[in-house]
Amino acid sequence: MEPRTPTEASDTLPEIKQNSYFDDNAPPKVLDSYRKLGKAFVSDHLQSGRRVVLVTSGGTTVPLENQTVRFIDNFSAGTRGATSAEYFLENGYAVIFLHRQYSLLPYSRHYSHSTNCFLDYMAEALNGEVMVNPEYQQKMLGVLRKYNAAKNENKLLLLSYTTINEYLWELKELAMLMRPLGPKALFYLAAAVSDFFLPKDRVSEHKIQSSDIKQPVTNGAPTSEPKGIASTASGKKLMIDLDPVPKFLKTLVDGWAPEGMIVSFKLETDPSLLVSKAHQALDKYSHHLVIGNLLSTRKFEVVFAAPEREEQWITVPVHRRVKSVTGARPNLSAKDWQTTEQEWLRGEQELEIESLIVPEVVKMHKEFIEKSQEIKAEDDEDLLAKALAWADSGATE
Ligand code: PMT
Repeated sequence: MEPRTPTEASDTLPEIKQNSYFDDNAPPKVLDSYRKLGKAFVSDHLQSGRRVVLVTSGGTTVPLENQTVRFIDNFSAGTRGATSAEYFLENGYAVIFLHRQYSLLPYSRHYSHSTNCFLDYMAEALNGEVMVNPEYQQKMLGVLRKYNAAKNENKLLLLSYTTINEYLWELKELAMLMRPLGPKALFYLAAAVSDFFLPKDRVSEHKIQSSDIKQPVTNGAPTSEPKGIASTASGKKLMIDLDPVPKFLKTLVDGWAPEGMIVSFKLETDPSLLVSKAHQALDKYSHHLVIGNLLSTRKFEVVFAAPEREEQWITVPVHRRVKSVTGARPNLSAKDWQTTEQEWLRGEQELEIESLIVPEVVKMHKEFIEKSQEIKAEDDEDLLAKALAWADSGATE
């Protein structure tokens, strides 16, 4: 995993200028205030020499209307991002948590999952006051202390997005703000980003009316429909014509964050494709690590793919997997199930896979920083040697 030198990175900057996405799609209104918040946060941690990670988390939406009633969304709840953010904080990082609005947040995620009503954590005391249910006191105290520490030490910045456009603008802005951190910047891109979107000029201003979708015309495209939608010759259907979202990972690697370490995630549903797709992403974007995961097993198994390294699988042992809140049992044989149940009864604690992923990433990031510093020291020596040689030649002329 070789860091790139600033000279190599800046050579590719003109490519970014050619990218017209940001000319065609307006920035979100919050961008200025996020810029101020991000700048203050980065400056603070730059001064203290702390490593800073940008964690992206949750799905992005694709609005079908400007005054949005309908939108396309995806499954991501933000568990991976919110959980990882906590482990990065435990590992000494300052965390910018760029998340889908209303998805899970670090610390509060323990109490805000949709299947666990937060009121269940409360109880009524004899004097009529509301208190924390004694059953949850101990764990809640631990979570509360960590949350307060992160807040009081200004180590956690929460910024949100909803649409794909907001996500892209904010990612770009934050990546640029993080450039002064050099190799101490880490990008951990766990958000599930939409691959297709409706460009601004094809989004209808108002709610698409089903009555606007005309019966098919016999030849040629129908003319009187809202922008970006069309009926078909086979009946009254809403057809949405989406464009591919430009792959911003390339731009991030080449221009926005040339010196930082970049970790992307690869989500697949077909196990036979996962490893090859992770390597393909690595080859295509030339970044530092792809973490592959399958939709069905993502909570207990991932695979690391990095340049010049063997694949590395990280798996949570069966008996330590987080039990489903619905009570659903893992898919095991009767014998394995018996062993697992016995181990659960022995009280070994549940293990979140992010508690295994994050320390591995942190280890790789430390190596990355060391390597960058070595390269910089060599470059400085070269520069000094050249300057001395030049001065010498001047003196002898
Ligand atoms: O939130 P959870 O429910 O816990 O689920 C976590 C997760 C499964 C969403 C997460 O672990 C994960 O896999 N996230 C990445 C999913 C994804 O978007 O994969 P992808 O193959 O579409 O994209 C691969 C990478 O390319 C991503 O890191 C993304 O940042 C990047 N990308 C994607 C689209 C795009 N237009 N530009 C990009 O740069």
